[in-house]
Amino acid sequence: MLSSFKNDLQICVIGASGGIGRCLLKKLDNDQSVKSIYTFSRKEISPISNKVKTFHIDITSEDSVKKASSHITNQSIDLIVVATGILHDDGIVPEKRISDLNPMNMQKLYEVNTIGPAMIAKYFIPLLDSTEKSVFAVLSARVGSIKDNSLGGWTSYRASKAALNMIIKTISIETARTIPNAIIVGLHPGTVDTNLSKPFQKNISKEKLFSPNYSVEKLLSVINNLEAKDSGGIFAWDGKQIDY
Ligand SMILES: NC(=O)c1ccc[n+]([C@@H]2O[C@H](COP(=O)([O-])OP(=O)(O)OC[C@H]3O[C@@H](n4cnc5c(N)ncnc54)[C@H](OP(=O)(O)O)[C@@H]3O)[C@@H](O)[C@H]2O)c1
Repeated sequence: MLSSFKNDLQICVIGASGGIGRCLLKKLDNDQSVKSIYTFSRKEISPISNKVKTFHIDITSEDSVKKASSHITNQSIDLIVVATGILHDDGIVPEKRISDLNPMNMQKLYEVNTIGPAMIAKYFIPLLDSTEKSVFAVLSARVGSIKDNSLGGWTSYRASKAALNMIIKTISIETARTIPNAIIVGLHPGTVDTNLSKPFQKNISKEKLFSPNYSVEKLLSVINNLEAKDSGGIFAWDGKQIDY
């Protein structure tokens, strides 16, 4: 599955309690080439095998992200996947029109979708293996592409992911100097049947609504095919690059 990496992989999954994160964890746990998986989530998850270690994280708190990173004492992580994110929450519904914009709701989306992954990058990128292929991949979204926006709506979610994409690009430039073998990317998982997409699935055709299993398989294949030249890019589940 991850044949382009060295053997005995050490992997971090942040957001392991989510629809995509949970599925990713299960797949990695079944992969013989994976030696250990450090999982981080806000809701507690039960460890599924003895190669999985579980820790708490609230990505809206820098202290919590820093503390979470301190559980990893070696600097040889091969792959970090950030699978956190929100589209809706208690009292937060994606905007349909300009009059729906609400500063508190906007702030909440930026905190989780933009600032959270930036804080994770700050404390976790230094843990990447600096000698072999290593990857820091954050789940972004195609709707964060400014070029692709032809429908409008969902202003805060789109803006939070567009800003995330800029953070990914910026971080990739510095990381190319400090850890040249590390690849920093954003990934679009497709429209996936999870709690995040549940309220918005009715107009999606069956073929376009992916199971977490299908999406994760595709994303792992994209990660496996990544090369140094891809760092800073945003890639969809089918491996195609998405314009910012
Ligand atoms: N599903 C889709 O169709 C789709 C499409 C495009 C992009 N994406 C992106 O894919 C990513 C994962 O989405 P999903 O579908 O798996 O959604 P999900 O099932 O709702 O999972 C979201 C995850 O984010 C975590 N999270 C939220 N706030 C957090 C915080 N403050 N601290 C720590 N963790 C926090 C949740 O933790 P708790 O369980 O503890 O709340 C959960 O693990 C998101 O970035 C999303 O934007 C999804």
